[in-house]
Amino acid sequence: MKTLTKYGLLLSVALLLLLSCSQAQEPIKEQSSSAPITDKPLHDKKILIVYLSRTNNTKAVAQIIHKEIGGDLVPIELTTAYPVDYQSAVDQVARENQGGYLPPLKTEIENIKQYDIIFVGFPTWGMQLPPPIKSFLSQNDLSGKTIVPFNTNGGYGIGSSFETLRQLCANSTVLTGYSTTGGKEKEGLFWVMKGAKEEQVKADIKKWLATIKLDN
Ligand SMILES: Cc1cc2nc3c(=O)[nH]c(=O)nc-3n(C[C@H](O)[C@H](O)[C@H](O)COP(=O)(O)O)c2cc1C
Repeated sequence: MKTLTKYGLLLSVALLLLLSCSQAQEPIKEQSSSAPITDKPLHDKKILIVYLSRTNNTKAVAQIIHKEIGGDLVPIELTTAYPVDYQSAVDQVARENQGGYLPPLKTEIENIKQYDIIFVGFPTWGMQLPPPIKSFLSQNDLSGKTIVPFNTNGGYGIGSSFETLRQLCANSTVLTGYSTTGGKEKEGLFWVMKGAKEEQVKADIKKWLATIKLDN
């Protein structure tokens, strides 16, 4: 009888242990192999921030975004740089836009496939998307990815740049972009992302990032 009680007690303890273990286990979630990569929570997503910048205003915005959300930060550089003289650069851009010329890029993104979200930053040039950004979007297959445009400009706004980006990213999800005034090279005003302006841009970017639903 004594032995029977002992075994009974042992059996109850074993049963209790088994029960508590199975309760602690996470239920196994069903996983589909075809689940889109963007279903991953944001901390699991691979982020790339690319930008074109001549006088560092767009670069400053890119750096602020990078500080907020991390990822890889890459400047877009050309094989042959644009002329230093402002008017010569404006004229060259106008010719390139007219002829649909895509300037060759020095920058190559290694394994672009690995990225889920790609921020694309650029200044407004001739009220359009700058030719090097057209090159970048044409040369890389960004289908299925989330694209987030951002811009600085000399006070005349984004022009047709965001619209052209949407057209060139027809198979991507393009989120609401961010734009702010930058330099006015024409008037000899180059880099402005400092002091109160920088603080304002930082605050605006925080708000913008919180509203665009990157984790969707
Ligand atoms: C070739 C060229 C064309 C530009 N065209 C425009 C324009 O059409 N509208 C505008 O608002 N600003 C224009 N800008 C001014 C830039 O958009 C502005 O200075 C921007 O902040 C520069 O960014 P970055 O410092 O990153 O180069 C132009 C600048 C350059 C160099």
